Amino acid sequence: MADESKFIEFIDEALEKSKETALSHLFFTYEGIPYPVTMCTSETFQALDAFEARHDDIVLASYPKCGSNWILHIVCELIFAVSKKKYEYPEFPVLECGDSGKYQRMKQFPSPRILATHLHYDKLPESIFKNKAKILVIFRNPKDTAVSFFHFHNNVPDIPSYSSWDEFFRQFMKGQVSWGSYFDFAINWNKHLDDENVKFILYEDLKENLADEIKQIAEFLAFSVTEEQIHTISAKSTFPAMRAASQETHGALGPFLFRKGEVGDWKNLFSGAQNQEMDEKFKKSLAVTSLGAKLKYESYCQG
Ligand code: A3P
Repeated sequence: MADESKFIEFIDEALEKSKETALSHLFFTYEGIPYPVTMCTSETFQALDAFEARHDDIVLASYPKCGSNWILHIVCELIFAVSKKKYEYPEFPVLECGDSGKYQRMKQFPSPRILATHLHYDKLPESIFKNKAKILVIFRNPKDTAVSFFHFHNNVPDIPSYSSWDEFFRQFMKGQVSWGSYFDFAINWNKHLDDENVKFILYEDLKENLADEIKQIAEFLAFSVTEEQIHTISAKSTFPAMRAASQETHGALGPFLFRKGEVGDWKNLFSGAQNQEMDEKFKKSLAVTSLGAKLKYESYCQG
């Protein structure tokens, strides 16, 4: 449960900016990673260096389209269950998005603050680690992530479209999309998933056993909730429930953001050659890593 007015305000502003932005002008590069000019600025990145995280901040880290809004909703519901207070967004919840003054304003905001982010591990502000904030890291299989990302660009009327799926796939594999390469993001996180204060969450596990995963998230955050509360939160966190509420929670973007919510949608778009290219990339970069095993690639990306 959350008050989304700030959230929707920011989304509307970003969509308004997107209208006038061609795809060829959508990205700017900061420290080697492309970001959308409609949501990020270099001034904000500079200000972020000095951001003071708190011990009780809750960080939600993910590559775009891996289910960050899903986890955000679950964590807001958990906060509501334990505090009976509606979580109010002080700012747009993605840490690196917005104007450079947001971190100053966030100093006034009561705990716990939720800090969603798509930043690669090595780009996160140091204070998150120093102050030992808890971090939930959400991953989704790379094929469905790419497909979700493509539809997001091409379905939302105000966001610049790609000429085709093939064109998007090419850029995705090169890491020339917002927040850079999925694979670099994953490799960057790989060594830190078993760190103290870090919990790995897989989108596909959430799909398979929502109540169980919510319970584990509550335990990790040291939130004491009853079975009944877990049950209520999972009923409100299914795809149909979140999609039905999406206009209210996410404004005009809602129905596009909560598009299909399925595992395996990649089968509708990937060609044989694209499957092979991604399988090879996975094999080379992630298959032998511990994150590679956690992603259960054979189950969700093959066959
Ligand atoms: P699809 O485009 O495949 O439908 P993010 O929030 O990181 O932008 O991720 C968006 C993706 O998460 C979308 O994927 C969206 O449908 C999916 N999603 C959001 N809430 C969900 C839920 N409750 N159950 C399943 N998938 C969900």
